[in-house]
Amino acid sequence: MFSAMRCDLKFPENFLWGTATSPTQIEGHIINEWTDYVASDGGHCRVACNHYHLYEQDIGLMAGLGVNAYRMGIEWSRLQSAPFAPLNQKELDRYIHLIDCLKAANITPMIVLHHFSNPLWITTSGGWLNPATIPAFVDFVKKIVAALKDRVYLWNTFNEPDTYASLTYILGGFPPFQKWKLGSYRKVIKNMAKAHVLASEAIRSECRGGRTPEIGIAKNWTFFQAFQFYAFWDHALAEISHHVFNRFVLEEFMGKKRRGASTFLGVNYYGRARLRHFQALVPTNGVPKNRLDELGIICDDMFERHPTGFGKLLGKLHRYCGLPIYITEHGSASSDEDFRIRDLTGHLSELRTAMNHGVDVRGFFYWSLLDNFEWQFGYTKKFGLFSVDFNDELLPRKTTRVAQFYEEICRAARAVPAP
Ligand code: FCB
Repeated sequence: MFSAMRCDLKFPENFLWGTATSPTQIEGHIINEWTDYVASDGGHCRVACNHYHLYEQDIGLMAGLGVNAYRMGIEWSRLQSAPFAPLNQKELDRYIHLIDCLKAANITPMIVLHHFSNPLWITTSGGWLNPATIPAFVDFVKKIVAALKDRVYLWNTFNEPDTYASLTYILGGFPPFQKWKLGSYRKVIKNMAKAHVLASEAIRSECRGGRTPEIGIAKNWTFFQAFQFYAFWDHALAEISHHVFNRFVLEEFMGKKRRGASTFLGVNYYGRARLRHFQALVPTNGVPKNRLDELGIICDDMFERHPTGFGKLLGKLHRYCGLPIYITEHGSASSDEDFRIRDLTGHLSELRTAMNHGVDVRGFFYWSLLDNFEWQFGYTKKFGLFSVDFNDELLPRKTTRVAQFYEEICRAARAVPAP
C-alpha cells in the first residue's frame, strides 16, 4: 500500500494541486479539424466524455479530490465563427458558468488558449503556416481575456507547440497529416512564438488595473538518448531531435529577445525516448510491450518513464529561464494502477527534491482528470484519475485508486480534511 504521508511529500501551502484536460479530448460537440478524424481504434471526438454537458458533475469530482486548481482549455472554434468576429455569447456564458462553478469549489483555473485544435476557418486558410493566423489568434485572445479577466489570472497561451508542429508536419499524426516537412515545422513554431509574444502583450494590456496576470507556454519535454553507448549514429539522431524539439523551440519562445513575454514556464513531462538503430523505443512508436520489457525499458502505454530525468530537467530549466515553473502535465496511462501510483510517487519525490534545491515550482497538474480521447490513439490510453465507460451512452465516471492516492496527496499537502 502506498501512502502520501510515507512519501513525505510536503509542499508549500499555496502550491497549486490540480488536474488537466483539453477541450477536444473531453468536451464533445465541437466543430474543428478533429471532428471528422477517426483514430486508430476507430474512435472519434464527437461526444468524447460529454464534458460539454456534464461539467458540473466533473467539477464535483474535482472538489472530491481536494484539488485547488484546474488547467483547462477554451475552445477557439466555439467562440468565433470567422476572423475578428465577436465572441459567441451563449458559448462564452457556458465557460463563465463553468469557471464560476470552479470558483465556488475553491478551484483556481489556468486557461489554455491553444491545445492542438483550430477553428475550421483557420485550418482551411493554411493553419499556422499562414501568418494571418497570428493576428486572428491574438484577436481571440484579446476578446476572451477581456471577458474573463475578473475570474482568471493564469494564462497558458500554447500547449506543446513542438508536439503540435511535429505531429502536423513531420510525423503526419495530426491534421493536415504531412510528413517530413521540416520547413513547415519551423514556420509553425516561429508563427506560434510570434503569436505568444503578441498574445502576452494583449493579456497584459487587457488586465491593466486588475490582478497581474501570469503568462506562459507549456513545453513538452522528452529526453532523447541513444540506447547503446557505442551507437554514434543514434547519439547523433538524439542530439538532432533534442535540438529540433527542445532547444530550438525554447529559444523561439523564451530566448533572450522574447524572455519578457512569459512570467512562467509550463512543463509537460512524460519521460524519454531512447533510440536504437534510429528507432525510438517507445510504445507510441509501435514497439511491442514484450520487446520493451526484454530490453529492460520501463514504460506506461505510451512513453518510457524516467523519473530521475524529471528532477534534472527542472534544475536545468530553472537555470535556463529563471522563471517560476508549473508542471502543467504529468501522468501515465496504464491499466496497472499500482504502476501509475509508483510512477506518480517517483515523480513527485523528484519534484520535491528539485524544489529543495531551489527550483521555484508553483503547481502540479495531473494529466488527466478523466480517461479521454487521446488524439491518434482514440480511447485506448487510460490517463484518467476517473475512468469513463465509453460503452455506456451515459459515460459514467468511476474513481480509480490513483485518484484516491492523489486525493491523499492533495489533502495532506494542503491539510484539507476529507469531507
Ligand atoms: C500531451 C498532450 C495532452 C495529452 C497527453 C497524454 O502531450 O498535451 O493533450 O495528449 O500528452
